[in-house]
Amino acid sequence: MEKERLEEVSSFPKDRSLENMKKKFKISKPKGKLGVLIPGIGGAVSTTFIAGIEAYKKKSGKLFGSLSQMGTIRIGKRTEKKTPLIKDLIDLAKVEDLEFYGWDVYPEDCYNATIKAGVLDKNLVDSLKDELEQIKPNKAVFNKKFADNLNGKNIKKEKNYYKLAQDLIKEIKAFKKNKNIDRLVMIWCGSTEIFFKKSKIHDTVTSFENAMKKNHKDISPSMIYAYAAIKCGAAYANGAPNLSVDIPALTTLSKKYKVPIAGKDFKTGQTLMKTILAPGIKSRLLGLRGWFSTNILGNRDGEVLDNPKNFKTKEESKLSVLEHIFQPEINKELYGDFYHKVRINYYPPRGDQKEAWDNIDIFGWLGYEMQIKVNFLCRDSILAAPIVLDLIIFMDLAQRAGMLGIQEWMSFYFKSPMVGENLYPEHDLFIQSMKLKNTLRYLAGEKNIDHLGLDYYYE
Ligand SMILES: NC(=O)c1ccc[n+]([C@@H]2O[C@H](COP(=O)([O-])OP(=O)(O)OC[C@H]3O[C@@H](n4cnc5c(N)ncnc54)[C@H](O)[C@@H]3O)[C@@H](O)[C@H]2O)c1
Repeated sequence: MEKERLEEVSSFPKDRSLENMKKKFKISKPKGKLGVLIPGIGGAVSTTFIAGIEAYKKKSGKLFGSLSQMGTIRIGKRTEKKTPLIKDLIDLAKVEDLEFYGWDVYPEDCYNATIKAGVLDKNLVDSLKDELEQIKPNKAVFNKKFADNLNGKNIKKEKNYYKLAQDLIKEIKAFKKNKNIDRLVMIWCGSTEIFFKKSKIHDTVTSFENAMKKNHKDISPSMIYAYAAIKCGAAYANGAPNLSVDIPALTTLSKKYKVPIAGKDFKTGQTLMKTILAPGIKSRLLGLRGWFSTNILGNRDGEVLDNPKNFKTKEESKLSVLEHIFQPEINKELYGDFYHKVRINYYPPRGDQKEAWDNIDIFGWLGYEMQIKVNFLCRDSILAAPIVLDLIIFMDLAQRAGMLGIQEWMSFYFKSPMVGENLYPEHDLFIQSMKLKNTLRYLAGEKNIDHLGLDYYYE
């Protein structure tokens, strides 16, 4: 079975020139159904995403915010006036071909979980009741040590981590067979796990498997899901900031199984704003003295993050953004000494309707000081749902194109992008967007756009 799987995926060509790509390389077609595996299927992000897809299928909602569905891409020179929809330029899986399967610590079906999440209007959710009720969470691989504020009982009985992984693999294979699924993507929409660092047991596949067999303390549930996904040939994307697939053992395994992986932590809300504003401030060489960010939110995510050990994981993810964009080591006078603080406050009355405040102290010409205030009244899951869809669609594309291991072109969607060893992550939203679009152009056999526009100046 494993050998079969390794042979069935097309390989990315050794000669990656555009000419070779055009002549010889074929991306396999997105035929049949795409299975979407979701740990945390009962959460706010998952239910908002799934209900959105069902609403779209019934023509009662539009998939705003999704690049794969609504985004356009310029091809060639501006004078050529070619700006097709991305989905018309390159073969992508269709929204209608997604088939959901998931796990959650809480047993409610997708209809009740969507109502409970309280993100979407009840009338809309009621109109999707028949479809949503059919999606039920399977028993979760869960360890309370990693998310102490959760008390659900919909949990697998098996205690050994390695056997739990085998259970997941069996389940995924059965889903694939029973529903006649062609390809698979897993996306972690589960809670943020507590903060811990990589250790020796994460170094190699063998040390990781041995550690699973011994229920080692440094193996979290999201790692067990990621391992099972890769073993089944499912692409894996991590929407939370916990390590999960971001360990050498699993990145190595993903290459062996020719599976694309990506993470971490969906880029929504305050961090999205940060990665829009910070590149602007930096490109105009305005200095930064400090950036204070605080917000209130009252959903289950907020409740989990109310535990300092879980918040620490989120904090690390949110803090890294400015360091990388401003590059204080290169721009000492402007950014060598800025103060950055991020706070999240659990405040139940707001539910998913987060409110975020930023105070940014900057300075300009001759050192004169200025302030920027941002007050973002956002909806966390409304911002996250299109990211989930795009990740599923583009990870499937990567899989069909034979692109394996870390998909850095997916950085656009993450607060804390995964990158190869010894590389720093790119956080600037505009560089990320260019990288993503140029990757799509390349896969479509089109030239990259460098915005040089030399024709302007020379005959
Ligand atoms: N909403 C956003 O904008 C946003 C942005 C960035 C990252 N995230 C991250 O995405 C994840 C989901 O966010 P959310 O708002 O939907 O949170 P949520 O608390 O509503 O949903 C998470 C779900 O995961 C389930 N879960 C936890 N551990 C599990 C396990 N081991 N197996 C199966 N299910 C498990 C929980 O029971 C819960 O239903 C969180 O980690 C969050 O930090 C969310």
